[in-house]
Amino acid sequence: MKIAILGGTGHLGRGLAARLSETHEVCIGSRTPDKARLVAARLHRVKGSSNEEAARWCESAIVSVPYGAAGELKGMAPHLVGKVVISTVNPLKREDGLLQYGSEGASAAALIATMLPDSLVATAFNNIPPSFFRNPIGRELDVLIAADTRKTYDVAASVVLSVPNLRPLYVGPLSQAESVERLTVLVMNAAILNGGAEFSVKLVS
Ligand SMILES: NC(=O)c1ccc[n+]([C@@H]2O[C@H](COP(=O)([O-])OP(=O)(O)OC[C@H]3O[C@@H](n4cnc5c(N)ncnc54)[C@H](OP(=O)(O)O)[C@@H]3O)[C@@H](O)[C@H]2O)c1
Repeated sequence: MKIAILGGTGHLGRGLAARLSETHEVCIGSRTPDKARLVAARLHRVKGSSNEEAARWCESAIVSVPYGAAGELKGMAPHLVGKVVISTVNPLKREDGLLQYGSEGASAAALIATMLPDSLVATAFNNIPPSFFRNPIGRELDVLIAADTRKTYDVAASVVLSVPNLRPLYVGPLSQAESVERLTVLVMNAAILNGGAEFSVKLVS
């Protein structure tokens, strides 16, 4: 699959690009195309471009920009019509040394769905730290996917399954995205308050 990672020059985007390029065609997008090309050159089989060009080129996109930048996706809507768009975005704000959920309104995924009304938006990778992508060996993690249609879930799950040791878990329609994003707050505060380990999510039975 041709996958664009919008904001792919960042911490999470670089990790995702490194893993997904093993089985997909990957283009990382940036506000500065030269920056994207520079970062891509350090990764194997990854190309770089502007976010707009990556959105136009792709079959599916992953949004990996900070929450405050999600509003800027509106201009990309025409390039993403009918495509599955995966939101990794967590609204986070820091207060008194801890993290709080940073949206008083819609979840980040719901905001992105508003910006991209003709795309098929899902959550995924919200709770996975970038270090996992550098070294997934010996760690089995779960990726919680909220999506409104079966097709959207299936595409997002297939992207998740292309990364070793990740298990996709369906958690319901996009209205569940807020719970997925809030879980990141919980996990990161647990890390802050318990020695700084990088925690993630694994559901056990
Ligand atoms: N890091 C994690 O542990 C982690 C884990 C799971 C999910 N997430 C989520 O994934 C997203 C990305 O996280 P990250 O840590 O990779 O973020 P990051 O490194 O701070 O930023 C990612 C990229 O976003 C672009 N960007 C920054 N400000 C922007 C703006 N105002 N408008 C448009 N683009 C902007 C930048 O690319 P250019 O300068 O090249 O345009 C930057 O390289 C976040 O929403 C986060 O909540 C992060």
